[in-house]
Amino acid sequence: MAKLLVLHGPNLNLLGSREPEVYGHATLADIDADLRQRTVAAGHSYDSLQANAEHVLVERIQAAREDGTALVLINPAAFTHTSVAIRDALAAVAIPFFEVHLSNPHRREPFRHTSYFSDLALGVVCGFGADSYRYALDAALKRLA
Ligand code: DQA
Repeated sequence: MAKLLVLHGPNLNLLGSREPEVYGHATLADIDADLRQRTVAAGHSYDSLQANAEHVLVERIQAAREDGTALVLINPAAFTHTSVAIRDALAAVAIPFFEVHLSNPHRREPFRHTSYFSDLALGVVCGFGADSYRYALDAALKRLA
């Protein structure tokens, strides 16, 4: 049994009503329930957090080192393109992570083409809507098995 932590960045609490043509119709609660169910069915423990504030995500990542988190799935949302602080936190705790995006940032505005996370991530899954999380979870569960 291992601990999986899923982190969701700013504005992802609005999923379902936020630009559905870009992000789809699934709510964050739908996505989290699916991930939790599949993680627990695989015999692991699941925790998740959505935060609009950078420091909340930094503090949760720091706490992950103390609570024995084995793997992180993170959609840093807009912080993908701005946050050295969250990147540094992940590097500091040295917990392996997958980067997830619902949309494909590479076919969007140029400012979304830079990620502060991809070069540290085990892998990046993007462009599959809510299924991006499912595919990243499949990879995470394989790694935890
Ligand atoms: C996102 C892509 C980011 O560019 C954007 O700021 C988000 C969501 C995605 O999941 O597609 O908030 O991370």
